[in-house]
Amino acid sequence: MFQHVEAYPGDPILSLNEAFGKDPRPNKINLSIGIYFDDAGKIPMLPSVRAAELKVVAEAGARPYLPMEGAANFRTAVQHLLFGADHVAVKKGRIVTLQMVGSSGGLKIGGDFIKRYFPTSSMLVSDPTWDNHRAVFEGSGITVKTYPYYDAATGGLRFDAMLDALKAADKKSIVLLHACCHNPTGVDLTQAQWQALVPVLKERELIPFLDLAYQGYGDGIEQDAYAVRLLATEGLSFFVANSFSKSMSLYGERCGALSVVCPDAAQAVNVLGQMKATIRRNYSNPPMHGGQLVARVLSDPELRPMWEAEVVAMRDRIQSMRRQLHDVLSAKLPGRDFSYFLTQRGMFSYTGLSPEQCDRLKEEFGVYLVRSGRMCVAGLNSGNVEATANAMAAVLA
Ligand code: LMR
Repeated sequence: MFQHVEAYPGDPILSLNEAFGKDPRPNKINLSIGIYFDDAGKIPMLPSVRAAELKVVAEAGARPYLPMEGAANFRTAVQHLLFGADHVAVKKGRIVTLQMVGSSGGLKIGGDFIKRYFPTSSMLVSDPTWDNHRAVFEGSGITVKTYPYYDAATGGLRFDAMLDALKAADKKSIVLLHACCHNPTGVDLTQAQWQALVPVLKERELIPFLDLAYQGYGDGIEQDAYAVRLLATEGLSFFVANSFSKSMSLYGERCGALSVVCPDAAQAVNVLGQMKATIRRNYSNPPMHGGQLVARVLSDPELRPMWEAEVVAMRDRIQSMRRQLHDVLSAKLPGRDFSYFLTQRGMFSYTGLSPEQCDRLKEEFGVYLVRSGRMCVAGLNSGNVEATANAMAAVLA
């Protein structure tokens, strides 16, 4: 019956993380998956989230189905987090926010909606982008192309080439943009570059689809929402998928959202309705627990500042790892420029290591990086940063 089903070659990120789990070497180092580990190498349970969970569980009652669009308290809290409670688009009812199964769920539901209502639009993603973007949108039947982004020569951004490509894009193309902490490169647009992008998006009637999975890991919770708020202020219509996996360390709860900024409140009503239908066709309605933790943290006057401080601490720890890795590597290989570790932001850095060098790191040293050369800097800690630098220096020498 299933002889025609071919073997699965595996996922470049998730399967590598599984391989790490099975590796028996005690000194192995996991810099593959985009997960924040603390200095002891553990995934933290944030105290704010723990406190929220105790309150939520104490109050928990029956478990009815949530509405297709998710819990109302979650949706409002998330919309305010992304756009600011006083944003004119929020006040005018122009934004639809729906609870999603992670931000991946937001990409998928957004992709299905786009395929139905913009059937001839193709999507442009950055070169490179998160390994799963293409798979998700092609899974919705959308043709996926790329625009120039990362500059391997400088470890920075090819902004002019990116703009040129978008100026030449078909009208009503969907443009996938990383709102902050670009995955996999750690290279972001500056605020001035976001501003320069806006007229191009307007002129070509492009439809931005922002992916905001790392809010708080760039410059701050508010600052990392800059692009989202700018586009809404500029009157653009667009999609935003966001996640609490990283910012609240809630990976397994699969808790995220999809927001659609619409031209007016009447269109927002219909978009909400058709999004509900899209959700119903996929998984009916989202799970309850994770969303209630998020809603509690965001709206509780004691827990909110606790969480904000926890995000600062996670961001600062990554920053100090970037500095340490940079310093050790620069001392070991004086002719080489490792400043990209300091300029790139968020969880990831693009090391420029070849797939073969990544294989050597894994096989000889037990250091796991995605074969694109992406390093999850958030997997470094004071106990493994030196060993990582030594291993990198050995494969680079
Ligand atoms: C990553 O990029 O490593 C994370 O976002 C986890 C994933 O689902 O790929």
